[in-house]
Amino acid sequence: MSKNKQPDLMDRIVSLCKRRGFVYPSSEIYGGLISCWDYGPLGAELKRNLKTHWWDAMTNRRDDVEGLDAAILMHPQVWHTSGHVTEFNDPMVDCKTCKARFRADKLEESRCPKRPSKSPLTCGGELTEVKQFNLMFKTFMGPVEDTSSTIYLRPETAQGIYLNFLNVKNSSRQKIPFGIAQIGKAFRNEITPGNFIFRTREFEQMEMQYFIDPAEDEKWFEYWRRERWAWYESLGVNVSKLRWSEHGEDELAHYAKAAYDIEYEFPFGWQELEGVHNRTDFDLSRHMEATGKDLRYADERYKEKFIPYIIETSAGCDRTILTLLVDGYDEVEVKGETRVFLRLSPKIAPIKAAVFPLVKKDGMPEFAEKVYNELKKRFKVFYDVSGAVGRRYARMDEAGTPFCVTVDGQTLQDETMTVRDRDTMEQTRMKTAELIEFLTDKVSG
Ligand code: GAP
Repeated sequence: MSKNKQPDLMDRIVSLCKRRGFVYPSSEIYGGLISCWDYGPLGAELKRNLKTHWWDAMTNRRDDVEGLDAAILMHPQVWHTSGHVTEFNDPMVDCKTCKARFRADKLEESRCPKRPSKSPLTCGGELTEVKQFNLMFKTFMGPVEDTSSTIYLRPETAQGIYLNFLNVKNSSRQKIPFGIAQIGKAFRNEITPGNFIFRTREFEQMEMQYFIDPAEDEKWFEYWRRERWAWYESLGVNVSKLRWSEHGEDELAHYAKAAYDIEYEFPFGWQELEGVHNRTDFDLSRHMEATGKDLRYADERYKEKFIPYIIETSAGCDRTILTLLVDGYDEVEVKGETRVFLRLSPKIAPIKAAVFPLVKKDGMPEFAEKVYNELKKRFKVFYDVSGAVGRRYARMDEAGTPFCVTVDGQTLQDETMTVRDRDTMEQTRMKTAELIEFLTDKVSG
């Protein structure tokens, strides 16, 4: 099978997403809003499945990680304490000629809007001095709009976890080492968003903060690097397109002692998918200083109270979706026609199986509907009677549906149906009970 990786691959993926209802441009009938995207019916299912897969791996299947769902709006002082108000900046330049704005550290890869074949360094425009641009979105809380009512949309979900460290420890009776996991929206006023859902101004993070004895930071850092790599493998991502990238001294975020990114090779190059950071006791110490609340950890195993170190795993939900779309996109020539296959793992595929009667007669639709209704109690499935069976397979292949179940003449004699595997094209006959067992096995992985 041909894995098509030409430069316009992103265009084809964006077009598939729109056509099949994975992702639409936000506010499209108003002309769209730059860097904002809406997940359609298939995209919403895919995203929900992905988040469930992360949540299961990071909380439900572990005894040492608790879940949290903190508010997006937080006390404004949080962001002063965390360093985001002063440090969470990107260097920015403006073009005096065309008024466009660019990230000063990404000028070579940026494009001049007036002369898209050129970068801002070569288009002939005159650039301003570099200025620091804070990435946090601001708004006002309450009816008065002045500096005293300014609050921020959170640029990371992590701070909600730090502020609840004591609450969660006390209510769950967890002992160090333990973690708190959260999935939620984050907002960054990126200077140059782009590459579809890769870099947006509103996005979702899946973050986990693991509280540890500072003497064990290297051990847990390595442990979480292994766990997170294995998670992408469990999604079926092609590992030859994944790699680690270590942050050099000059790249480390203001809170980190060590950081590695998991990167994926997108059609636009190797880019960060997830960060694993050793945040030391930076965050808890700062919040303790600012509030006067004792955030130290005490239990009988330790002689002295101490501020735990934190190992953070921070994944982007939307970037993982893009990874799955790019990684799974395939084009195959079938009888002179180019057919699209979206090879999503059954664990996260939006629709797990489609059920078809081969023809609309001889009791086949009735049998197929019965099977569909039985499967529907357990899985997201789809029933389709319209068009030639080959067309129906093709529609499901590009929607990422891993299995198609066809009721045919033989079904009416022995109650077996063909189950076609999207990737191997193998067809196996089974009865309804076996089919349920088969799908349960595939979906749970
Ligand atoms: N709490 C740590 C933190 O936020 P980060 O490296 O800035 O670290 C973590 O972000 C992850 O969030 C990234 O690896 C990426 O997957 C996702 N992310 C960050 N900015 C994003 C953006 N503008 N659009 C989409 N995803 C983004």
